[in-house]
Amino acid sequence: MTRQEYIQAQGRFFITDEPDAKVPLGSMPNQYRWGVDRLKEFLGPLVERGLASVIVFGVPVLKEKDEVGTLADDVDGPVIQAIKKIRELFPSVYVAADVCLCEYTSHGHCGVLLEDGTVDNSKSIARLAEVAVAYAKAGAHCVAPSDMMDNRINAIRQGLARHGLAGRTTVMSYSAKFASSMYGPFREAVASAPSFGDRRCYQLPANARGMARRAIVRDVQEGADIIMVKPALPYLDILADARELAPDYPLACYQVSGEYAMLHATANAGIGDLRRLVEETMVSFLRAGASLILTYFTPELLTWLDSPLPA
Ligand code: PBG
Ligand code: ZN
Repeated sequence: MTRQEYIQAQGRFFITDEPDAKVPLGSMPNQYRWGVDRLKEFLGPLVERGLASVIVFGVPVLKEKDEVGTLADDVDGPVIQAIKKIRELFPSVYVAADVCLCEYTSHGHCGVLLEDGTVDNSKSIARLAEVAVAYAKAGAHCVAPSDMMDNRINAIRQGLARHGLAGRTTVMSYSAKFASSMYGPFREAVASAPSFGDRRCYQLPANARGMARRAIVRDVQEGADIIMVKPALPYLDILADARELAPDYPLACYQVSGEYAMLHATANAGIGDLRRLVEETMVSFLRAGASLILTYFTPELLTWLDSPLPA
């Protein structure tokens, strides 16, 4: 594997609203919640090593969350502040932002709810579109809706168009997102576990290959620019399906927090070499058809790529 093949690895990290924070994330070795004032220290060395692209996730801890996720597009909130800061500090870096409400709602669900606790689709997609527009206005090159609700890509594209942002904002859709047990470390990191119920009504069951294929086609029809499959390793067949269904689209896969934790745990247990394990997963994503990989291992990969292992 060469640097050229990996260059699309997208660094992923968590931003919090405490400007000076560097809080270790218990279940994710080497991962922290970063404050905006420490982005230079964190990203500077990575950009020097070739980091080209990042995706940010907001973790508000200071202000109170509400039912509609007002904090998602708070101008003083972590995501908008981080987007502006990264654009200013590192003009060459491509900045993407995860768009969802679960990190910001009091109930921890990805949308706005009806009285009976079910998702209000039209209110949810209108709210997601507002948030996406706010991130694009702040300077995000790419917005990445991770909620899986019907018609949100359409709503986001219309919102961007109304604000004259459509031409310069990429929409990366979490198209085939499975209700996985591998999001545990992420939810712990961002304290976004739903307070009741689960996400099965808007995320796919593990065995739903047909629904995943339909969701990919749906997002292409709604106008997504990049299609994503998540998690990555347990869903390589879906990734290969997406490559076939959307041959002319950039295809992303998301190596999620549980995959990251699993690989570390394997290495820590002495039953595998971390670097070899990680590189093998990367090769498998590329082989299945991915052209873009979102991974928490990006910092390590930037180093490893400079010294290829003997075959
Ligand atoms: C928010 C979101 C999640 C992840 C990315 N965006 C969590 C979820 O759906 O529960 C998962 C990230 C990971 O596990 O690394 N919708
Ligand atoms: Zn969500």
